Amino acid sequence: MDKIIVKIENLYKSYGKIKACDDISFEVFQGEIFGLVGPNGAGKTTTIECIEGLRKPGSGNINVLGLSPSTNGSDIRQRIGIQLQQSELPGRIKVWEAMDLFSSFYKKNIEWLPLLENLGLKEKYGAYFSKLSGGQKQRLFIALSLINDPELVFLDELTTGLDPQARRATWELIDTINKKGKTIFLTTHYMEEAERLCDRVAIVDHGKIIALDSPQNLIRSIKIENKLIFSMAGDFQLDTLNNIKSISKYEKLGDKIVVYGQDNKMVRDTVNFLAKNNIDFYDLKTEQATLEDVFLTLTGKEIRS
Ligand SMILES: Nc1ncnc2c1ncn2[C@@H]1O[C@H](COP(=O)(O)OP(=O)(O)O)[C@@H](O)[C@H]1O
Ligand SMILES: [Mg+2]
Repeated sequence: MDKIIVKIENLYKSYGKIKACDDISFEVFQGEIFGLVGPNGAGKTTTIECIEGLRKPGSGNINVLGLSPSTNGSDIRQRIGIQLQQSELPGRIKVWEAMDLFSSFYKKNIEWLPLLENLGLKEKYGAYFSKLSGGQKQRLFIALSLINDPELVFLDELTTGLDPQARRATWELIDTINKKGKTIFLTTHYMEEAERLCDRVAIVDHGKIIALDSPQNLIRSIKIENKLIFSMAGDFQLDTLNNIKSISKYEKLGDKIVVYGQDNKMVRDTVNFLAKNNIDFYDLKTEQATLEDVFLTLTGKEIRS
């Protein structure tokens, strides 16, 4: 059995009438990349900050590395790495000064020059924080979160605001850090990111966990394996599609027709059927189900709405 290093039981936290955490329970295993995923306002930051000992829970039990954040907060923070969603540094602090300052917070720290090098920041050693690009700032925050050689690293919306290329580079880094034996606990509102990175995800909405499993299992659980999307040239009676037995469902979204089916047979059958009946179609593409679909299926709404 994998070792549990974070355990949350029945966490509640309200701000006035807003229930930010409404009975949250889950466990994180050593060595995994665990993601708390959900739309803005779902309660991710509140949950992660309660675990880090930075916010006081309303009620519930939290255990991190065998310790309680409410009584052993500073001991825990010596052993974890934290990147906050609202991380900022003074513009006039230099990269090396930030590293030096942060390492002074910890009893245990590592040679941080190789860390800068590994994160592609060595040549930015003497640069002002304000002169770094968005991606470089995020890499510096990763470096700062690793400065005490933590067992467990918390990353809250690390890639928000980054362009796709910098986001991909950050994903690679997170993978590398994880392969070096660190457990990663991240939050994101990008389902694609969670699907790409996480061993297991907890999907949160309105302060509740609505699903928890590996991305693959969650996707399998909604039983949508394939989507075929196309447009029609002329008039088309949608219910003609009822003739294709391997289609489980279809719908019209704007000028696009979306056909669903469990396996590739649906794609072949649909294309064959359209061709055989001389029905013109264009812009044809297929899509696998994603975590976005899981969220949509479970909540009835798009995550970005
Ligand atoms: N300090 C606070 N005071 C009042 N309301 C807050 C505070 N922090 C968060 N909230 C509210 O709690 C809910 C959850 O917020 P948050 O935990 O930041 O969610 P997420 O990180 O998933 O976007 C939101 O409705 C948010 O507006
Ligand atoms: Mg947040």
